[in-house]
Amino acid sequence: MYPGGITAESTHMILYNYHDSSDSQPEKRFMLILGIESSCDDTAAAVLNDDTVLSNILSGQDEIHSKFGGVVPELASRQHLRNIHRVTAKALKTAEKKLEEIELIAVTQGPGLVGSLLVGFSYARGLGHVNNIPVVGVDHMSGHILSPFLTDNKPEFPYISLIASGGTSALYLAETYTRFTCLGRTRDDAAGEAFDKVAKLLGLPYPGGPHVAALAAKGDPATHKFPRSWLDPGSFDFSFSGLKTSVLNYVNSNKKNDTFSKEDVCAAFEDAVVDVLVTKTLKAARKYELANVTIGGGVSANRRLREVFQQRCHQESLTFFAPELSFCTDNGAMIALSGKHQFREKGPLSINDDVYSRSRLG
Ligand code: KG4
Repeated sequence: MYPGGITAESTHMILYNYHDSSDSQPEKRFMLILGIESSCDDTAAAVLNDDTVLSNILSGQDEIHSKFGGVVPELASRQHLRNIHRVTAKALKTAEKKLEEIELIAVTQGPGLVGSLLVGFSYARGLGHVNNIPVVGVDHMSGHILSPFLTDNKPEFPYISLIASGGTSALYLAETYTRFTCLGRTRDDAAGEAFDKVAKLLGLPYPGGPHVAALAAKGDPATHKFPRSWLDPGSFDFSFSGLKTSVLNYVNSNKKNDTFSKEDVCAAFEDAVVDVLVTKTLKAARKYELANVTIGGGVSANRRLREVFQQRCHQESLTFFAPELSFCTDNGAMIALSGKHQFREKGPLSINDDVYSRSRLG
């Protein structure tokens, strides 16, 4: 017996009913999935009818954490506790679905802040247990990697996926809906973290990415060339802490100068981040001879990053796919989508499964 009163037999029924249609199998039918995400400071829930998003609700905590210049884990988990039921109820109401109609609950199992993860994870398991709905645990990174499938213009496997957020910068080779290999990841600050730290030193609000991007749009990136960290030849890892320190030193030695412009600093900084992210991603696409490139994570909302990806993919005859802005940052829809595929392959969570802080992908 699985948690939630789901027997192995009933799980097989759900999996069997769901399988793709062929001559020997029943017709593929649509599946209603509730996705729950609470890995960091966003409480999110969504309802998917197979691949169609019926609702996507998010309750952020920027106001709470902005005065500290970053996420305070204890405050984040307490706020998730206050939000989780309200956000889930709103996702169901917006989708015009009742909990009894939901066939699968997908919840983020990791990576993330353990206290935050535990709120969504325990809530989802409780909901599944009481209502006899199977619950599947999802790796947050797999949600970001699959997020372009929530948009009309869907990629084809295999593809190279760049995930750049506040917690990570990583490159993945995505072969199927459930098979991902990590080719490289951040060795220090993630790209979003670098945006947030540069924003903080320039006196901009948290989270800093959108504020830095807004100033960068008015600045000239050519006024200063900040260093790009390429690491060892052939490495697909990232490092942004040297760039951040270089911006800090530049700001400290120039802030009394009349010609100092926050707009130009932001533009030159953004240019350096975008250059490294795009160059490494395209290098991976060439190495693995793949024609499709996708992005995901909060930083993938950056307009300049999208423009440069579009231009350089076009020059190299690659096809570029990006999620809609609402699916770039943390959201429940990508968790529901990934959970559907994972459930098909591995079934529901077992009683011993727990949350984890570091990604288990590849
Ligand atoms: O994926 P996400 O919502 O979750 C976390 O990892 O927390 O990403 C949030 C990150 C923050 O660091 C934020 O500053 C950054 O994404 N971000 C951006 C932009 N919008 C959000 N960075 C650069 N440009 C943007 N337009």
